[in-house]
Amino acid sequence: MAVDLLLGLQWGDEGKGKIVDVLTSKYDIVARFQGGPNAGHTLEFDGIKHVLRTIPSGIFHKNTINLIGNGVVIDPVVFVKELEGLDKFKLDYRKNLFISRKAHIILPTHRLLDAASETSKGKAKIGSTLKGIGPTYMDKTGRNGIRIGDLEFENWQKKYRALADKHEALIGFYNVDIQYNLEEMEKEFFEAVEVLKTMRFIDSEDYLYQAQKEGKSILAEGAQGSLLDVDFGTYPFVTSSNTTAAGACTGLGIPPNKIKEVYGIFKAYTTRVGSGPFPTELFDKAGEQMAKLGNEFGAVTGRPRRCGWLDLVALKYATQVNGVTQLMMIKGDVLSGFKTLKVCIAYKYKGETIRHLPFNIEPENVSPIYKELPGWKEDLTKLKDANNLPKELINYIDFLEKELEIPIKLVSVGPDRTQTIHR
Ligand code: IMP
Repeated sequence: MAVDLLLGLQWGDEGKGKIVDVLTSKYDIVARFQGGPNAGHTLEFDGIKHVLRTIPSGIFHKNTINLIGNGVVIDPVVFVKELEGLDKFKLDYRKNLFISRKAHIILPTHRLLDAASETSKGKAKIGSTLKGIGPTYMDKTGRNGIRIGDLEFENWQKKYRALADKHEALIGFYNVDIQYNLEEMEKEFFEAVEVLKTMRFIDSEDYLYQAQKEGKSILAEGAQGSLLDVDFGTYPFVTSSNTTAAGACTGLGIPPNKIKEVYGIFKAYTTRVGSGPFPTELFDKAGEQMAKLGNEFGAVTGRPRRCGWLDLVALKYATQVNGVTQLMMIKGDVLSGFKTLKVCIAYKYKGETIRHLPFNIEPENVSPIYKELPGWKEDLTKLKDANNLPKELINYIDFLEKELEIPIKLVSVGPDRTQTIHR
């Protein structure tokens, strides 16, 4: 049985959580493969909105196994709060939520190091969510990290102390003023670890291998977006993991030849939180309108998201790096009411017109070249049938499909599970 993959094609916040939730009934297993509580996957159904951070978005379907893969980094404190948030839904998550023994743990001092590093950068800061993601992946690749499986052995606290002490010395090195009470943070951390230890830890790569042999269907759920990939994103303004398709192989232990469909999710326009280049960013009324109608505030940090027109150069790049087989367009409803819509089809770069993403897309190097398309006025949020979409929206979709050479199979017209149109 094949594995399907779902990932974001822009700078995150594409609405992956909602789509995983919509697709979950088709899958036996939903597995997160990278990132950590920097993610905020929002799901809405029965009038309730829920934000997931580390837990896969299939958790509300009781017959689906949800797996936190080896490529994910877990903060026990955030994780336990997430579990508490699920309690009101009476979910039996001890039965259908598994955690890879090889996933790394975010320590309180990783969060402090994140803050120290960002503070020391001043204006050049990445705009990190400050959840300790970068420092935890640094310890993973530096071969110093603590993994979920370590919690099953007695000497893990010794390892913890040595690493936390080293981190404290490093925080001193940054020579910045950050206030913290490590004793309190550690108390909360160790309490959370005890709850975490009651969950089911597994050798997830073997579990997934056996599941595939038994013909089970698996959906790999990505976090953040392709342009935040540590290799292929807008470095250094990226996250610290591989958010692109290859990340699902390393983050779950799935061989590349087992991946079948690659669902690429994108917004009908573009948003970005945090710092870094964004060629189609708007600083005018149109950008304000997108932010307002799209409720563009970070699900994790509450920070306002920067908004701009759809960037087809960046989107095409993301589809290429990921090998996307099907596209899904989110938030088409937010663009209702614009007289004309702009889509960036090329960049002006060093006096030339280019159609690929160059090494450096800082505004001084790159300016977008737009095509204008007619907008639509209709409210889309109650539509159920692809045949009833306004003709201008169909024209917008046709144009994107032609440029990207990939079909758009799903159009989302609101945050609720039911506001989803299949094509
Ligand atoms: P970090 O991963 O928290 O270190 O953040 C690095 C960059 O990625 C910052 O610009 C964040 O705003 C951005 N980022 C991290 N996670 C997400 C996400 O889930 N959605 C959107 N942006 C994110």
